[in-house]
Amino acid sequence: MTTSVADIVRIGPVIPVLAFESAEQGEGVSRALHAGGVRVLEITLRTAAGLAAIERAARLAPDIVVGVGTLTSPRQCAMAKKAGARFGVSPGLTRDLHQAAQDEGLPLLPGVMTPSDILLALELGYEIVKFFPAQQAGGVPMLKALHGPFPGLKFCPTGGISADNAPSFLALPNVVCVGGSWLTPQAAVAAQDWARITQLASAASVLARPAT
Ligand code: 3PG
Repeated sequence: MTTSVADIVRIGPVIPVLAFESAEQGEGVSRALHAGGVRVLEITLRTAAGLAAIERAARLAPDIVVGVGTLTSPRQCAMAKKAGARFGVSPGLTRDLHQAAQDEGLPLLPGVMTPSDILLALELGYEIVKFFPAQQAGGVPMLKALHGPFPGLKFCPTGGISADNAPSFLALPNVVCVGGSWLTPQAAVAAQDWARITQLASAASVLARPAT
């Protein structure tokens, strides 16, 4: 089943960005996030366990939507799709990556950081992009500035987002959701403190999104 990026980013206000050491760890964390109301997960290929974790998490519940994150090479699109990824997220955008995602029927949320990146994304037909690394690249003031020349473009800011600053990003008219790793603190993952992760997920799931 193919769901568009437009639909996926509207499922919840926060997409957790995840990196797992093993498929088992991925299953535990994904279950805990799902129990807290998080339905969309971005499991990155930053670790060797990424694809196996996607495969496992994608089967956990009928309403879970697992995407592949940190797509940096076109050939990763096919592998991720085969593993069960329903969408892809990349830190940046190239024509080859765009083409590979298209060929695989993998909806892509491509990363941008500059107006020139945005022009390429618009040329390729994207209406929603990831703003990365959000906080480091100018945060809320930068997104406000980008709204002028690109009024129709929507962003999912990721990078440096936390429980504290997420509401100020989500309050922007050009932000549809945010992404981040704060729902899965390393210590909680290592200790298999699923209750803590569920608690962080529950708090994130109810954040308000005036723009959507
Ligand atoms: C990403 O790839 O989106 C980020 O690395 C997540 O950033 P964070 O760890 O600062 O939330």
